[in-house]
Amino acid sequence: MSMSDDKSLRIFESKSALAQSAAELILSEATDAMSRQGYFNFVLSGGSTPEELYRLLASPAYRETMPWDRTHFFWGDERCVPPDSVNSNFGQARKLLIEPVNARKQNVHRIKGELTPLEAAADYSARLARLAREKSRGPRFDLVLLGMGEDGHTASLFPGKSMNWYGKEYAVAVEADYDGRPANRVTLTPVAFNNSRNILFLVTGSMKAETVLAVLKDEEDPVRWPVHLIKPVGGKVIWFLDEAAGDRVKSDQV
Ligand code: 6PG
Repeated sequence: MSMSDDKSLRIFESKSALAQSAAELILSEATDAMSRQGYFNFVLSGGSTPEELYRLLASPAYRETMPWDRTHFFWGDERCVPPDSVNSNFGQARKLLIEPVNARKQNVHRIKGELTPLEAAADYSARLARLAREKSRGPRFDLVLLGMGEDGHTASLFPGKSMNWYGKEYAVAVEADYDGRPANRVTLTPVAFNNSRNILFLVTGSMKAETVLAVLKDEEDPVRWPVHLIKPVGGKVIWFLDEAAGDRVKSDQV
């Protein structure tokens, strides 16, 4: 998967420089989306990497400049735990971003982790399908944040699964162990992700440097590297790395 026109990569000297540039990019895409369509469809990720970005987006500079009351929040994946659990992706974003910016309740489209995985996936698929019908096209996300695990998973698209990721559902139930986190999960599918204008991968830390190099350089192999499932049609993929995560890429000149 070599870098082509619809992909770009930047390496930042620190995690806070990365968060700063990510926030600037989000503001610029939100501003564009507002003038184009009057709302901003923003997909959040879980994991620890985006926490600093969420705090920054909730700080006065972005609280005042971002069109928060016209921003629709979605999630790329969720762990099947109640929303007030420390393991809930929604719970994390609610505390750091959704509540501080006073997001409108009706614009917060969360995956219901308190349901069984199958129920939560069906509920989210139905919600996205309804939103799609209202807009008379698939839910087109303006900006999607994604992380990546050391094993190359993204959202809850995990390696080695014999799942048919290419079905028509917008969300599916998944079971996968990673880093002691809850194994029952719900994830958006490639069909949903690939109807996005911008996908922004945020990856930090030296533990991920080898995987970053492999997913960017290896032949396409979505079973081994689920990141390869992310190929937005008519959209862009942007990688933001800190120096530690970008170390191998830099020395290898992808
Ligand atoms: C989740 C995430 C997941 C995450 C990666 C990276 O629900 O766990 O959405 O895909 O982004 O596991 O996690 P870290 O940022 O904590 O390394």
